[in-house]
Amino acid sequence: MERIQLSALAHADHPIAAPVGEGTAQRLLHHAIRRPDAHVLDLGCGEGAWLLRALEANPGVTAVGVDVSDEGFDRTRELAARAGVADRLELRRQDVAAYESPRPADVVLSIGAAYAFGGLAPTLAAARRHLAEDGVLVLGDCFWEREPDPAVRAEMESGPQRYADLPTTVSHVVDDGWTPVHGHVSTLAEWDEYEWSWVGSLNRWALDHPGHPDRDQALRRAAAHRETWLGGYRGVLGFVLLVLRPTPAAPAPAGSGPAAPPPAGPTVSRA
Ligand SMILES: C[S@@+](CC[C@H](N)C(=O)[O-])C[C@H]1O[C@@H](n2cnc3c(N)ncnc32)[C@H](O)[C@@H]1O
Repeated sequence: MERIQLSALAHADHPIAAPVGEGTAQRLLHHAIRRPDAHVLDLGCGEGAWLLRALEANPGVTAVGVDVSDEGFDRTRELAARAGVADRLELRRQDVAAYESPRPADVVLSIGAAYAFGGLAPTLAAARRHLAEDGVLVLGDCFWEREPDPAVRAEMESGPQRYADLPTTVSHVVDDGWTPVHGHVSTLAEWDEYEWSWVGSLNRWALDHPGHPDRDQALRRAAAHRETWLGGYRGVLGFVLLVLRPTPAAPAPAGSGPAAPPPAGPTVSRA
């Protein structure tokens, strides 16, 4: 019997792998895509749900998604073909750290994937490397809505990322040289929809496949996830999406630049 891909299954009802509702995603893409022929690059694209939405809404847009896992790629390619956008979508299985763009991107997406670069600061640096001069970054990352229990913090920060509160998170981004032109903080309803979809689709599959060798594993994963969420980070961990443009360099204050050349003396014409 074929083994199942638990992660792809967990996202079956909510292909955006973040606590972000459909309307929110559409609105943020609308703010980010500023030209009809924009090229969009998604660093840690998961199943490419953001790219599919960008392509469907904008007939001139092209898109590349990079992810270390290609678990959902087949389904995405199928959906892209059905929507008539497959010729404008490229999905690459690759570590984002090793990815070199053949062309600068007008829009870079990093949504729930900053850990792929080791945290916020290296993600911002990577986005800057891939972006066209007047490009837009859509960054989605976690923050602490309130001080977590030490055990919750240890669990949610077990990877390379460390989270701060919302004002501090946004300040880090601004101090790094970005200007927010739009933003969204996930609501509790968006979190609940995302987490119940995750837990629910695994449980439903397991109940519908009583003889499958992966059934017990799916039930265990769903139960562990539900307990960590409801007993731990629900209402404590937040998620913010920022639509960002590079902050232009400030003009140097008068008198602070390199010494001006001495004024030219009167030209004396010697006959
Ligand atoms: C929480 S998911 C978000 C997916 C997608 N951005 C979305 O919003 O639907 C994070 C994704 O980052 C990918 N990822 C993690 N480390 C990576 C790496 N080093 N290179 C490429 N992708 C990576 C994971 O495989 C996963 O699909």
